[in-house]
Amino acid sequence: MTQGPQRHTERLTDVVRAAALLRAGELVAFPTETVYGLGADARNSAAVARIFEAKGRPRFNPLIVHVPSLEVARSLAELPDWAEALTAAFWPGALTVVVPRRAALPDIVTAGMATVGLRLPAHPLALELLEVTGPLAAPSANPSGRVSPTTADHVMAGLGGRIAAVLDGGPTEVGLESTIIGGPEPTLLRPGGIPAEAIEAALGAPLRAHAPAANAPTAPTAPGQLASHYAPSGPVRLDALTAQPGEVHLGFGPVAGDVSLSEAGDLHEAAARLFSLLRELDTGAPIAVAPVPETGLGAAINDRLRRAAAPR
Ligand code: TXA
Ligand code: MG
Repeated sequence: MTQGPQRHTERLTDVVRAAALLRAGELVAFPTETVYGLGADARNSAAVARIFEAKGRPRFNPLIVHVPSLEVARSLAELPDWAEALTAAFWPGALTVVVPRRAALPDIVTAGMATVGLRLPAHPLALELLEVTGPLAAPSANPSGRVSPTTADHVMAGLGGRIAAVLDGGPTEVGLESTIIGGPEPTLLRPGGIPAEAIEAALGAPLRAHAPAANAPTAPTAPGQLASHYAPSGPVRLDALTAQPGEVHLGFGPVAGDVSLSEAGDLHEAAARLFSLLRELDTGAPIAVAPVPETGLGAAINDRLRRAAAPR
C-alpha cells in the first residue's frame, strides 16, 4: 500500500470548512446514510488522484460520483429509462446507477470507462456539502481491501494522517454500501442498502444477475467483486450454529453468539451493526458467524460476510 507522508487530519462538524478544503483540492471524508465516503472534487483530476493514493486503491477501479441533485446527475450522464425510474423511486438514497457518461468529468474518475456510477445520498450533512461543492468523487473511506467505515473514528483509524479532514456526522444509519445497478438492461452489480426486491418492484421487472468473472482480479465491469474485499485478519466461518473452541461467535436472531448482529433477528439492525462488529471482533482470532436469511437486506449482509470469509 502507498505510504504518503503523515499529516494532521482535522475532525470537523463545520460543513463550510469541509467544503473549503474540498474546493482547494484536499481529501475530506464525509458521512452518508450508507457508510463514510472519501470525497474529492470530481472535476479536479489531481484531487481525485489523491483518493487512489490515500486508499491504496488500484487505478482501474472506478469511483462513485455523489451529486446534489438529479439535474446535476443528468448533466454528467445519460439516464436511460430504467435509471430515471429508479432514481425517481430511491433518490436521495442507497442506490448507485452506473450509466453512460458524458464528457463532463476527467477520465481518472471512471478509470477510463464509458460509464459513471452516480448517487444522490440521503444524509443532511452530505447534501449540505454537495450543494456547496458540486459533484464529489467518493469511494468508501477505508484503506483498499478493508471494511467500510460507519463512524468518524473508523475513518480516523484507517486514513488518519493521510487525508485533510473527516466531517463527523455520527454513526451511519444503513451501515452497508449502496446497491449498484448497471445496464444496458437493469442488472444488479452489487447488493446493498436497498433490497433487490424493492428495486424489482419499482421496475416492475426482474433484475438481471451480474455474473462476476471468477478469478478475474482486474475485471473492471465487476465492481467491488475482488473476492476478499472485506477481510478481517483472522479466518471467518459462515452459517455457524455453534462456535468451535477458540472461535468468537457472531450471533443473529435465535443463535445468541458471544455478541449479536441483532437479537431480535432484525435485518436493518444487523446491517447497521455489521461493519462495527467485524472491526471489534477483528483481533486475529477466528470468527464464526450465525446464519443470516438471504432475503431483503440479508442478501447484502451475506455478500459482505462471504467476502470476509473468502480465501486470501
Ligand atoms: O454506499 C456507497 O456506495 C459508498 C458511499 C460512500 O457512497 N461508496 C462506495 O464506494 O461503496 P466504493 O468505491 O467503495 O464502491 C463503489 C463500487 C466499486 O466496486 C466500483 O468498482 C464500482 O462501484 N463502480 C463505480 N463506478 C463504476 C462503473 N462505471 N462501472 C462499474 N462499476 C463501477
Ligand atoms: Mg469500498
